[in-house]
Amino acid sequence: MKKDIFPQSIASGYAFCNRADERRQLKSHINRVNHTVLVAPRRYGKSSLSHQVASEWESARRIYIKISLYSAYDEETALELIAKGIQQAVRKMTSGFSMDDFRTLLASFSGFGLNASLTTEGANFGITFNFGSDSKTPAVSLTSLGELLKSMDKIALKGGWNIVFEMDEFQQLSSLETSYAIEAQIRDAVQYARATAFIFLGSNRHLLEQMFSDKSRPFYNLCRIIRLNRIAAEDYRSHLHDAAGIQWSRNISDEAIDRILSLTERHPFYINALCSRLWAEPEPPKPEAVAPAWSMVVDEQMPVLRNDFARLSPTQKAILNQLAHYPEAYVTGSGFLNRLGKALSTVRDAFGYLKNMDMVYQNDAGLWAVMDPCLSFDLRRQR
Ligand SMILES: Nc1ncnc2c1ncn2[C@@H]1O[C@H](COP(=O)(O)OP(=O)(O)O)[C@@H](O)[C@H]1O
Ligand SMILES: [Mg+2]
Repeated sequence: MKKDIFPQSIASGYAFCNRADERRQLKSHINRVNHTVLVAPRRYGKSSLSHQVASEWESARRIYIKISLYSAYDEETALELIAKGIQQAVRKMTSGFSMDDFRTLLASFSGFGLNASLTTEGANFGITFNFGSDSKTPAVSLTSLGELLKSMDKIALKGGWNIVFEMDEFQQLSSLETSYAIEAQIRDAVQYARATAFIFLGSNRHLLEQMFSDKSRPFYNLCRIIRLNRIAAEDYRSHLHDAAGIQWSRNISDEAIDRILSLTERHPFYINALCSRLWAEPEPPKPEAVAPAWSMVVDEQMPVLRNDFARLSPTQKAILNQLAHYPEAYVTGSGFLNRLGKALSTVRDAFGYLKNMDMVYQNDAGLWAVMDPCLSFDLRRQR
């Protein structure tokens, strides 16, 4: 059977490499009902980390709810996505309720757009939120979102449950017209939660960071921040040795591993893209086989990356091109400016944009480099 040791999406179980410190940290936040925002560039492993920790934590009375707001294009869909998560948690917690318990529960939810009835749904009582306006009960509205989340937490507290409520692509909310009001509703519930630990994450680091660190926004100071960097080389080495054992019951050479780590620059997404190719072969890769496989990964990725690159200004392009060849500690220093032949203010603005867009990053040596190892590799192989 082919095992997916290097998935393109969420890594879990034996596909998950280390992150021991971040795991411990997130777990302790959950256990203490502290709320967390996971911050990292896209495809660094935020969703994987959250999923791994919450799945390990999950048990009979610990509920892991996970919603993604990527499709929340307006207030209504955002509400619906969040309310569905609440609905899922409440259904789980009430599945063992008596009719009387359930009646009390309904009273506490009254007026929140809950279309609950005492009809049984299999062994459970039905609870469904109403999102349309075509029914007798009012639809879930923005002003009741905070109360709904709080009610979920109250049921949990009373029944001895704990909940992890994960909201992925959370920055999506900030693009909505009523973003401030929605964020305020969520904040209201989050700050009073006693049995629910919230985890916020998203693929736009810049927007997410603004939401949580801007003093004028509702989420300011509400959460602890966990920042993810690239996974350490040592950890990847033992992960890849293990992966060779799983796939071929054979060793892979340290030299082959070094080439994998250096070409991908330990970017988690690209390690997986490269290794899923290499691991499809009947035996462990020889060191010489790594570079050709990497070229194929790069060729596959370049159409999209080239499009992104084409949209940049000439100065932004020049900076990336420089950094692809020579990572640099002082991008506003005279050496770098001279090599680019550009003025300080121009470079500062262009670099600021690249930083916000996560197109550059500071590597382990503290040097600024191109974030995407494929783009970096392609810029170098052009000349
Ligand atoms: N700890 C990890 N170990 C192994 N692979 C990982 C790990 N974290 C992420 N990955 C891989 O990296 C890629 C991006 O992961 P994902 O969790 O979707 O990132 P994000 O949510 O930050 O965009 C996926 O291919 C995933 O399998
Ligand atoms: Mg993700």
